[in-house]
Amino acid sequence: MSYDPSAVRHCYPALMDGWAYLDGAAGTQVPRAVMEAEYRAYAAGIGNHGGFFAASQRSDAHSRAARAALADLLGAPSPDGIALGPSMTALTYRFADGLSRTWREGDEIVLTRLDHDANVRPWVQAAERAGVVVRWAEPTLPELELPAETVTSLLGERTRLVAVTAASNVVGTRPDVRAIADAAHDVGALVYVDGVHATPHGPVDVVELGADLYATSAYKWSGPHLAAVAGPPELLETIRPAKLASSSDAVPDRFEYGTSPFAQHAGLAAAVDHLADLAGPDPRLPRRDRVIASLGEVAEHESGLLHRLLAGIAPMDHVERLGSPARRAPTVWFRVRGLAPDDVARRCADAQVNVWSGHNYAWELAGLLGIRDTGSAVRASLSCYSLEEDVDRLLDVLSDLGGVDVGGLGRAARPAAGLPEPETLPPA
Ligand SMILES: Cc1ncc(COP(=O)(O)O)c(C=O)c1O
Repeated sequence: MSYDPSAVRHCYPALMDGWAYLDGAAGTQVPRAVMEAEYRAYAAGIGNHGGFFAASQRSDAHSRAARAALADLLGAPSPDGIALGPSMTALTYRFADGLSRTWREGDEIVLTRLDHDANVRPWVQAAERAGVVVRWAEPTLPELELPAETVTSLLGERTRLVAVTAASNVVGTRPDVRAIADAAHDVGALVYVDGVHATPHGPVDVVELGADLYATSAYKWSGPHLAAVAGPPELLETIRPAKLASSSDAVPDRFEYGTSPFAQHAGLAAAVDHLADLAGPDPRLPRRDRVIASLGEVAEHESGLLHRLLAGIAPMDHVERLGSPARRAPTVWFRVRGLAPDDVARRCADAQVNVWSGHNYAWELAGLLGIRDTGSAVRASLSCYSLEEDVDRLLDVLSDLGGVDVGGLGRAARPAAGLPEPETLPPA
């Protein structure tokens, strides 16, 4: 088995445009196999779900395939405990609504200032409605680590929920979720893990992690704009979000509002197949085994690139990195002295390097660091298809920003002319 990122890139038509896509934390590109799966689903005919005719049954099959694929991706207890939805944010609001209906005044929940706002605000607002106290776990400064004790020291007999990230979407910090979950379970609290940033960067086992509920978004790992929350079906049975009187009360359907995007469900299953085959392991192995092997190799590849990026930034006095977590996803947050983060991102775009600027929804963290009102920071994130060349192009831009002549950008940019036209879809 061997991981060949250059070969992997050929699966992604969008990457042929010559830009360095260092924006995977905000969403990755999509491989041809996912586009084709969605095309085939539409071409074969789909219907609304639960009907007696074949097109409807095909739609239900796409949803079942998506849940089975997610169970393999996450090591989830059962495909029947996987709720699909349009985004992690939307699903988290549904779970916050459902879970908070059993909270009582004076109960407590524990949140962190490391988390993306989607794993913060839905809980804060649900807590306000229920008269529940929010306890805040603070990351350490300046490392931006979240040692387990910062969370576990806040637990008590009234704690109902701990919401914590498996990896920060800006500084990459990977807290010890298992230690946090064990302590939370000792006091009878549930653990809701935001796995959106963590999922594409290494094998996930939600049971091993101790997550009662684990959220992930497929568009961060080569899939369509869809998300899922995975948990044991028995737990989902106990959670009752608002729903229509007329819609199914079965689990997981009760969390899936309205008509689902069935063709995208087909795309999601294809994305998991794509991840499973990234490192080209033995096709006779079960998909779960292939996912673990492939994502293990992706993690190694990305970690090599991360070290290259960090080593390249280290001697640049004009670049200030935010955080230095020991266990981390391959995502870096930084500021460039004398330049607004938006201007840095613009300079990068001039050199055909995609990076993000701003708070990236790490709202509490940007507030804690006191940078929210000054454009926050710039984020570069690596993906399974990133190359050393992409990292070097970013380093070239940053290096030029520290020099006298900041007009000399784009030295490493590839020519925009002569690039292939976007692909057209194959016949059905
Ligand atoms: C760590 C993390 N959590 C949650 C979200 C929200 O995900 P969604 O866009 O699916 O609502 C994001 C999106 O960037 C994220 O990076």
